[in-house]
Amino acid sequence: MFIESFREIVVEPVRTTPAYRTAWQNTVCGGARAAFDRMGTALCYCMCWQYMHFESLSSILARGHTDDYIAPLVIDVGAGPATVAAALAQRSIERHDQTLSLGYVGVELYGPMRDIGDQFLQDNSLFDVVDKVWLEQIDDLSPNVVEPVSNGCDALIFACSYILRQPHVDTGFAERLARGVARVRSHWPDLPAYFLYQDVSGGDRSNIYAFLDELRRNGYYAAGKDQFLRQDQAFARLDGGIDRRPHSGQNEDYRNVHFRFDQVRVQM
Ligand SMILES: C[S@@+](CC[C@H](N)C(=O)[O-])C[C@H]1O[C@@H](n2cnc3c(N)ncnc32)[C@H](O)[C@@H]1O
Repeated sequence: MFIESFREIVVEPVRTTPAYRTAWQNTVCGGARAAFDRMGTALCYCMCWQYMHFESLSSILARGHTDDYIAPLVIDVGAGPATVAAALAQRSIERHDQTLSLGYVGVELYGPMRDIGDQFLQDNSLFDVVDKVWLEQIDDLSPNVVEPVSNGCDALIFACSYILRQPHVDTGFAERLARGVARVRSHWPDLPAYFLYQDVSGGDRSNIYAFLDELRRNGYYAAGKDQFLRQDQAFARLDGGIDRRPHSGQNEDYRNVHFRFDQVRVQM
């Protein structure tokens, strides 16, 4: 039967061989940089990269920066399937043995991604109460849209995962992001505020420095520094399992994650 040969010759090697899956990732979802305007492409991102991002975010959160907060107001820019919210919720379960309540603003360009993110936010094994709003554009981020989801929140967390490296991010995005952060931060001056940023380890960092400069021009200062996290690669398998490849420290395929976890303070 062809189907049996096909499973053996095609599906099984793809399922079990990270290098073949990497080729599939790059073709279908552009190495996580495609236009996610179709459900198939958005799901391919989730299949290929979401778990990896969840793991790296979890490693950052394991450093304890957000552990004191039980109801954060999260502004997730380039939100995709709301991976940051899921990582915060998982951390809350592990630290406090309780599901998370949060105010959530997801800024995401593509409808299919927003739909998948919404499904995660409705998962009551992770979340208690989620007051949420989705925006398409960073320019839509203002205190007026955040206000309705901010009730009872005890900290403000701006989160950006790989957004400053996306192909649909035009010049000036970093500055518009900084102005959005400043607009919202100025409206909640008494909440502790953080900026969580993650990106690939190599390459050009001009975007993040453009963001930090523009933030300063808008009266705020991000008090933190660049850090690198050794990343074990974690691939979701087609049978639902996870394949892990430990960081070897030698092969360039085994990437580090570049991140900053900054406090957003008033510039003196
Ligand atoms: C690499 S994914 C990261 C998704 C998610 N934060 C995670 O960690 O799994 C980047 C996301 O940014 C979105 N995106 C790209 N350009 C955007 C823009 N200009 N405004 C808002 N979202 C954008 C993409 O559609 C994609 O979902």
